[in-house]
Amino acid sequence: MRLLIATQNKGKVAEYQNLLADLDCEIVGLGDIGLGNLDVDETGTTFEENAIIKARAYAEASNMLTLSDDSGIVVDALNGEPGIYSARYGGPGLDDGGRRRLLLSNLLGVPNEQRTAHFTCVIAVVDPQTDAAYTAYGQVDGHIMTEERGNSGFGYDPVFQPLGESRTFGQMDAAEKDPISHRGVAAKQLPAILAQIEAD
Ligand code: IMP
Repeated sequence: MRLLIATQNKGKVAEYQNLLADLDCEIVGLGDIGLGNLDVDETGTTFEENAIIKARAYAEASNMLTLSDDSGIVVDALNGEPGIYSARYGGPGLDDGGRRRLLLSNLLGVPNEQRTAHFTCVIAVVDPQTDAAYTAYGQVDGHIMTEERGNSGFGYDPVFQPLGESRTFGQMDAAEKDPISHRGVAAKQLPAILAQIEAD
């Protein structure tokens, strides 16, 4: 079985390669099949819809079994923002650091017990033969800090501390973060999904 990981992010391809290393499944990236970035409009209103929209677009273009994911951070005191807009929070002028500063400033004065948040990840696998979409969900609960801690990872990692941990994701290396992360939790369900696809 060959599985296309539809992302521009080389780190994600490597992450899935690690997570699926024990399976009889060849993981390929977009570059491996000479497919560039498709201009896919993420018009969904949920992580699940957007993951399926992306996986379906790349499955159609490649005619391969295709995985895509959609993820983000949901902050309770901000009524769920930035949510599905995590990558675009604050508009196109901001980089990861700017988005973190915006989040911290929007939470200024909010006490610790109200700074609850979670990362969500939905993985979608689309089979181009049947157009069927299979999904897996992962979540990690935690708190938003009042200042950045650590500089590992990406995105909101330095401001997010998972429940039961004394360090942020930004203070953990991949070997520590991946098993407990939203993406790791969702990816653990992939072997069962791929078995299901083979059986269908
Ligand atoms: P996408 O799933 O690639 O569209 O990314 C969504 C956005 O959510 C990213 O650009 C990050 O800002 C944020 N995000 C998703 N997962 C993580 C994570 O594991 N750490 C930090 N930020 C994340």
